Amino acid sequence: MPLARSLSITSLSGLEEWDEEFDLEDAVLFEIAWEVANKVGGIYTVIQTKARLTAEEWGENYFLVGPYVESNVRTQVELIEPTNPALKRAIDKMNSSGCKYAAQCEEPPHILAHFHEWLAGLGLALCRQRQLPVATIFTTHATLLGRYLCAGSVDFYNNLADFNVDKEAGDRQIYHRYCLERTAARCAHVFTTVSQITAVEAEHLLKRKPDIITPNGLNVKKFSAMHEFQNLHAQSKNRIQEFIRGHFYGHLDFNLDKCLFLFIAGRYEFSNKGADIFLEALARLNYLLRVNHSDVTVVAFFIMPARTNNFNVETLKGQAVRKQLWDTAQTVKERFGKKLYESLLVGQLPDVSKMLSKDDFTMMKRAIFATQRQCQPPICTHNMLEDSNDPILTCIRRIGLFNSSADRVKVIFHPEFLSSTSPLLPMDYEEFVRGCHLGVFPSYYEPWGYTPAECTVMGIPSISTNLSGFGCFMEEHIADPSAYGIYILDRRYRGVDESCNQLTSYLFQFCQQSRRARIIQRNRTERLSDLLDWRYLGRYYISARHMALAKAFPDTYFYQPHDSDTAQGFRYPRPASVPPSPSLSRHSSPRQSEAEEDDDRYDEDAEAEKDRLNIRQPLTLPSKKGPALPYTLPGANGEK
Ligand code: UDP
Ligand code: G6P
Ligand code: GLC
Repeated sequence: MPLARSLSITSLSGLEEWDEEFDLEDAVLFEIAWEVANKVGGIYTVIQTKARLTAEEWGENYFLVGPYVESNVRTQVELIEPTNPALKRAIDKMNSSGCKYAAQCEEPPHILAHFHEWLAGLGLALCRQRQLPVATIFTTHATLLGRYLCAGSVDFYNNLADFNVDKEAGDRQIYHRYCLERTAARCAHVFTTVSQITAVEAEHLLKRKPDIITPNGLNVKKFSAMHEFQNLHAQSKNRIQEFIRGHFYGHLDFNLDKCLFLFIAGRYEFSNKGADIFLEALARLNYLLRVNHSDVTVVAFFIMPARTNNFNVETLKGQAVRKQLWDTAQTVKERFGKKLYESLLVGQLPDVSKMLSKDDFTMMKRAIFATQRQCQPPICTHNMLEDSNDPILTCIRRIGLFNSSADRVKVIFHPEFLSSTSPLLPMDYEEFVRGCHLGVFPSYYEPWGYTPAECTVMGIPSISTNLSGFGCFMEEHIADPSAYGIYILDRRYRGVDESCNQLTSYLFQFCQQSRRARIIQRNRTERLSDLLDWRYLGRYYISARHMALAKAFPDTYFYQPHDSDTAQGFRYPRPASVPPSPSLSRHSSPRQSEAEEDDDRYDEDAEAEKDRLNIRQPLTLPSKKGPALPYTLPGANGEK
């Protein structure tokens, strides 16, 4: 494993330092969410990655509360006795009386309870209704109604201000949940959400303007060797290539070295996550690569959990056949090597015609025979329970991307989150992302979108949209995002077909890059990591907590809003190595001459240093309080 080194706040490349002092000696923080030690989607990632920084601030006074799921407790939780006597008494009482009691002690500390999402919101509403002396924060990571409206055929962003929210929630049979969410948002001391775009949505649908935006961060790994992440890419890519060798056995008529791995991942919300336009763009890309006689093959992975009853036989067989070929090759190699050695020992050059025996040939013929296959390589790795209605499979049937030989774009649908213990593709998600070339997340509804953020910190370029919190955040903080491998698709001002064309053109351009250009681009992408580090973004959560304590306990705490308007911040300029002329830098991908094609040896350090020096200019950034909220969304044209 590579050596990870942690960053201190000051070493974040030019990003503003955070130095707030707040006495938390007598305060206790509870953070409550359905996704504490319970992976469903991105909220798990928020809680899990933020824990370290929060624990640094709150020490033993920080408690996470989530659902008790036996299997998760066994794998993710270390059981300990509470050290805080008040807490121990409370837990004992709860245990002995069926959870009827709240946290009680003689000298109550100041309690701060931070609830995430409507599922936990009931606790917040009860705290307020019972007038408990608890400071409360409610963070919504999406609005229920927004998610439902977008998943339908509604022109969401153009009509945000006009929805009859009660009726819409009632029509979708989510009125009770909607009311819970709205209640929690309305009665919290502090209400926060993860991005500006969701802040606008919340103001219209939940009828409260968030007090602060708390963008999602990550724990950024820094490597001691500068290009360690590039090596990791190469290692992980090899493992994905092995999987491909098995999956496409009998049809390996494309050059794996010219194969690009694209992927989309996340909860299975077909149109909200943009899987619909990704598939459509892949069909168009397939056509473009074919008519241009490209030697590039694209394999697009869809990692979205759906209902299945396990891996299918054909997919497992593929890996078994590959393994058998490998074993055969090893056995023959060993026998060959032994004969060669024996011949050399007696001072003779081997008789090449006798190096392979009849047995060897029989064994090899059998192994080759096993690679005969009547069907095309499968699209889906699992047996789907709702195969005929599944939106991805239905769309693939319509656009005809069936992994045939002539297709330059192949598709693999893996309807389960990845795991290093899988018999099929034994990689965890992080390893898989590192081995890919491009993450594609063309979401229509995406309050934040961790998947492209995770790509960024691993130095993997991605496509997101200007309707995702992440996409808007990057647009705000980077002068020329695509130069850094952050492609932001316009889904706000363009109709679906136009967005799809733009996506196709991004994909086609990406396929035309040389290996060297991809390496340069990955270096630039990775350089943005600091911007997404909790050590930088954690400040917004800190502010929200201090604000809530000051509101609930004004005699003890005082919250001073930061000098928001004048605060100096940070914006990444275009990389110095991008040519300035618009004609040369069109779409800002690092293009090379023909002669440099596929050459992966170049002076990366000089290039990186040039860009780093250029980066050290402080530019204007939103205040420490959080990015300013634009409460009017410019004329959206989210035609659906
Ligand atoms: N993810 C994962 N395993 C996988 C694919 C995805 O753990 O095989 C995680 C990924 O790391 C990310 C989360 O799923 O943190 C998806 O979060 P995002 O915010 O992108 O979307 P959400 O599903 O919450 O809407
Ligand atoms: C990394 C490795 C190189 C390798 C390259 C492949 O940069 O350090 O040795 O050649 O990845 O890049 P590609 O984009 O073709 O997967
Ligand atoms: C929700 C949103 C996603 C966000 C995640 C974490 O699941 O759908 O966009 O990244 O929460 O905030």
